[in-house]
Amino acid sequence: MIDGVSEPDGVVAALPAGVAAGLTAVPRCASLLAEPNSSLDYHAGLATTKHVQGPVTRNAREKHMSVTIQLKVNGRPVTAEVRTDTLLSAFLREQLRLTGTHVGCDTASCGACTVHLDGRAVKSCNVLAAQAQGREVTTIEGITPADGSLHPMQAAFKACHGLQCGFCTAGMVMSAIDVVTHQPHATDEQIRSGLEGNLCRCTGYHNIVRAVAQAAKAMGR
Ligand code: FES
Ligand code: FES
Repeated sequence: MIDGVSEPDGVVAALPAGVAAGLTAVPRCASLLAEPNSSLDYHAGLATTKHVQGPVTRNAREKHMSVTIQLKVNGRPVTAEVRTDTLLSAFLREQLRLTGTHVGCDTASCGACTVHLDGRAVKSCNVLAAQAQGREVTTIEGITPADGSLHPMQAAFKACHGLQCGFCTAGMVMSAIDVVTHQPHATDEQIRSGLEGNLCRCTGYHNIVRAVAQAAKAMGR
């Protein structure tokens, strides 16, 4: 069991011992503006994807089995074959082409890869794709209204200049939504605490905190 992430039945059992033993607690975090929805590459709404990675040696094949997972991603059913060592971040970006989720460190340190798993923010580089079996994943692409307008959190980041280069922004927005959803009256201090797992090298954080506080008001209406 990972903190906040329970293993899907029959999946972790199939994990190589080294992978299962190497699982560490998922730091609490959760993560701005997504790349365009046009990056979505679902196939007729039911995304059945094939494992697409580089050449795999025989030893590697034997060491890392593949499993078929079924989950919901941004509200759509997805069935996919994944290697048991595939990170959720890699699955989202490389197999589903949901590249709004960024990877900055791959070591659960920066928060750029934050998505929602069953409504809570997690660092997707610290979750195996297999652990998303039967669960619901929401990425930055999944929070925008159908009319293409911005989510209130994205609008607030834009209005408050809560981003500069934007690399951290998708993760920051996903974390901020988690904070506001569960602490609708969060103080600035609580907002800072809730975003402590998300690093930004550009903004100095002040405008991000202002944005989250502004979005909290808009979302509370
Ligand atoms: S890429 Fe996941 S926390 Fe940095
Ligand atoms: S806006 Fe550049 S890292 Fe946050």
